[in-house]
Amino acid sequence: MNDIEPVLQVRNLSKTYMQGKIPVHALNDVSFDVEKGEFMSIIGPSGSGKSTLLSMIGLLDKPTSGSVFIEGVEITKVKESDAPRLRREKIGFVFQHFNLIPTLTALENVDIAMRFARVPKNERKKIALELLTQIGMRDRVNHKPSELSGGEQQRVAIARALANRPVIILADEPTGEVDTKTRDMIVDLLKGLSEEGHTILVVTHDTAISQKTRRIITMRDGGTASDTISH
Ligand SMILES: Nc1ncnc2c1ncn2[C@@H]1O[C@H](COP(=O)(O)OP(=O)(O)OP(=O)(O)O)[C@@H](O)[C@H]1O
Ligand SMILES: [Mg+2]
Repeated sequence: MNDIEPVLQVRNLSKTYMQGKIPVHALNDVSFDVEKGEFMSIIGPSGSGKSTLLSMIGLLDKPTSGSVFIEGVEITKVKESDAPRLRREKIGFVFQHFNLIPTLTALENVDIAMRFARVPKNERKKIALELLTQIGMRDRVNHKPSELSGGEQQRVAIARALANRPVIILADEPTGEVDTKTRDMIVDLLKGLSEEGHTILVVTHDTAISQKTRRIITMRDGGTASDTISH
C-alpha cells in the first residue's frame, strides 16, 4: 500500500434486508473514502443505516451489492472462511454494551482478543498491560467487568479493540451508556488514538461527540446526506 491510498474505500454499497416478503433498503449506493488517521463520526436518525454500514465495513455481514476496500484489499470479496482472520487483523470493534466477558478480568479480556490471533502468552500480557496503562486502567487490570464502572468497562473494550493493532476502529454508540464526563473522556481518548495514526469511525446520536470529530457523514434513508470536513 502507498501512503496516498485511502485506508478505507466504500464503493456503491447497498444492503437490502428481507423482512418477511418486504424488502428493507437499509443502505442505498453509499460511497466514500477515509484517510489513515481520520477521526470521523457517522450521524443520522434512527434507522438511517449507520449500524448496517459499520457491519459491512467490519465484515459482520455481506452487502447486497457494492464493495469495501481496506488498505486496497476488497474485503467484501473474501471467502467466508477467511473473514474471521481478516476481521481480527484489520478491525477493532467498540460497542455500546461493551461486550466484555463477565468472568474474565480486564487484563484477560484484552488478552483473549490476541489469543485468537496466536500471539505468544508473554507477549499478550505485555501488550494488554501496555494498552490498559495507556488508557488509564493500570490499577484496575485485575478487576472483572462487574467491579468496574461503565466508563471503565468501555475503556477496557477500547483496549481490547486496539489489541491486534487494527487498521480501523469502528465504534457504534460507544458512549451510549455512560455519563457525560465519561463520554468526554472516551471521546478524548479516541481523538488521541486518531492523532497516533489510528483510523476511527464513530456512530453516534450525540452532537457533543460529532462536534469533536474532524469529519462528519450524515446518513439519511440509507444514503449519505452530507459529508463535512472541518479544520
Ligand atoms: N437484520 C435485519 N433485518 C431486517 N431489517 C434490518 C436488520 N437490521 C437493520 N434492519 C433495518 O435496516 C434499517 C437500518 O437499520 P440500522 O440498524 O442500520 O439503523 P441505525 O441508523 O443504526 O439506527 P439506530 O440509530 O436506531 O441504531 C432499519 O430500517 C432497520 O429496521
Ligand atoms: Mg444503530
